[in-house]
Amino acid sequence: MTAQALANAAYVVAALLFVMSLAGLSKHETGRTGIRYGIAGMAIAIAVTVWLSLSGSWTESTLLGVGLLVAALIVGAVIGLWRAKVVAMTGMPELIALFHSFVGLAAVLVGWNGALHAKELSAELAGVHSAEVFIGVFIGAVTFTGSIVAYLKLSAKMSSKPLILPGRNILNLLALLGFVVLTVAYVITPVLGLLIAVTILALALGWHLVASIGGGDMPVVVSMLNSYSGWAAAATGFLLGNDLLIVTGALVGSSGAYLSYIMCRAMNRSFISVIFGGYGIEAPSESDEEVGEHTETDAASVAELLSNAKTVVITPGYGMAVAQAQYPVAELAKKLREKGVEVRFGIHPVAGRLPGHMNVLLAEAKVPYDIVLEMDEINEDLASTNVVLVIGANDTVNPAATENPSSPIAGMPVLKVWEAENVIVFKRSMASGYAGVANPLFYKPNAKMLFGDAKEKVNDILKAL
Ligand code: TAP
Repeated sequence: MTAQALANAAYVVAALLFVMSLAGLSKHETGRTGIRYGIAGMAIAIAVTVWLSLSGSWTESTLLGVGLLVAALIVGAVIGLWRAKVVAMTGMPELIALFHSFVGLAAVLVGWNGALHAKELSAELAGVHSAEVFIGVFIGAVTFTGSIVAYLKLSAKMSSKPLILPGRNILNLLALLGFVVLTVAYVITPVLGLLIAVTILALALGWHLVASIGGGDMPVVVSMLNSYSGWAAAATGFLLGNDLLIVTGALVGSSGAYLSYIMCRAMNRSFISVIFGGYGIEAPSESDEEVGEHTETDAASVAELLSNAKTVVITPGYGMAVAQAQYPVAELAKKLREKGVEVRFGIHPVAGRLPGHMNVLLAEAKVPYDIVLEMDEINEDLASTNVVLVIGANDTVNPAATENPSSPIAGMPVLKVWEAENVIVFKRSMASGYAGVANPLFYKPNAKMLFGDAKEKVNDILKAL
């Protein structure tokens, strides 16, 4: 058996492990096993690729290649380990966005390399090769700048408001048309100028697509960029003739696309609109003006309210993650349940900054799974709940989504906390949430604000109880 055949067999095993990893990750209980399969698949893939490059006859250029490979592996592994170790749970989405940008950049570089070092090919094959180069560079460059904008928006280094350029949908359409025309021209005459032009066009398109999407839709954008990065990797696989890269890229591409679709459905957003950079979304027309008077409360009063309640629902959001308030929140739930109060958690599908962010935090603090309910499971019960504690959530409990058709988050399903008898909102100020939209909940007659760090305030309530 040749080295290449052996490597292909190992690649099939790795691909199977990746499929098993995805299957494992689809459930809480099997998540860890899923991750292990993924690690094993990746370890096999890397080991076989290194071995393959060592197995040929040794020339000076093999030596240089291996040297570069080992250096890249060490630098990549050190940076990857360091970043993954120091990143706070709240910084995870921006780290993932940054990782996607690397996949995009790699696809661009591999594409350029494929163009600059094109082998002698027959006319027909040369045409296919040129198309592969162009598609790889295009998807890679869109992913690269798109992910950088996503990183900047998620880390609040750039405003999360959508960029509304005049005629932006036409601009996107023109860019796509330009790509098709340039590809045809490059397949006929592969000159460097065309490659430079498509790279610049795709970089600008990626930037524009993500910049035009508002903060509330960012979760979908992140999973969509995940999908794009998969397709970029698959395109790279075609160029390098690497089957595993094609399979893995297709797995990431299709699962990312499906996740984006599920999230769009959960948020009542049009999939097409998000993919095409907010196509059909009008400029937000609302202002951030206050819409009434808010009422403040203190920890002692909340403790008293809770002591007299029969049913309590806790709806956590990004602020709980920032404050690391999950431990005192779990203790509060435990204490109230010991007093005979029915306590449940209501989790919005995009609460926090990652899919499943709140579930992870609550599981970490050992809150029993059976009292943690999805939005759809708890929404109807909120009207008959005595007290809702909104812990650092904002957009996900914003009534404007259902009451104000001109709101940028109009139509997004939210937790209807305002229907409860009493609502206590834990946050530090009257500031808006991630989507930058004012929240009329704070001014409702049955809502009271408990200002301060969520962890401190929950601890104060625990003491008062
Ligand atoms: P957000 O709307 O982001 O609001 C969080 C609130 O927490 C803020 O208004 C903030 O108010 C408060 N807060 C921050 N630090 C706090 C602290 N230490 N103590 C108490 N409160 C604190 O939260 P959400 O309701 O979870 O909504 C999530 C948003 O993120 C949605 O717009 C969603 O689309 C977006 N998003 C989600 C994801 C995923 S996949 N989940 C990914 C990207 C984006 P103060 O500053 O006044 O304290």
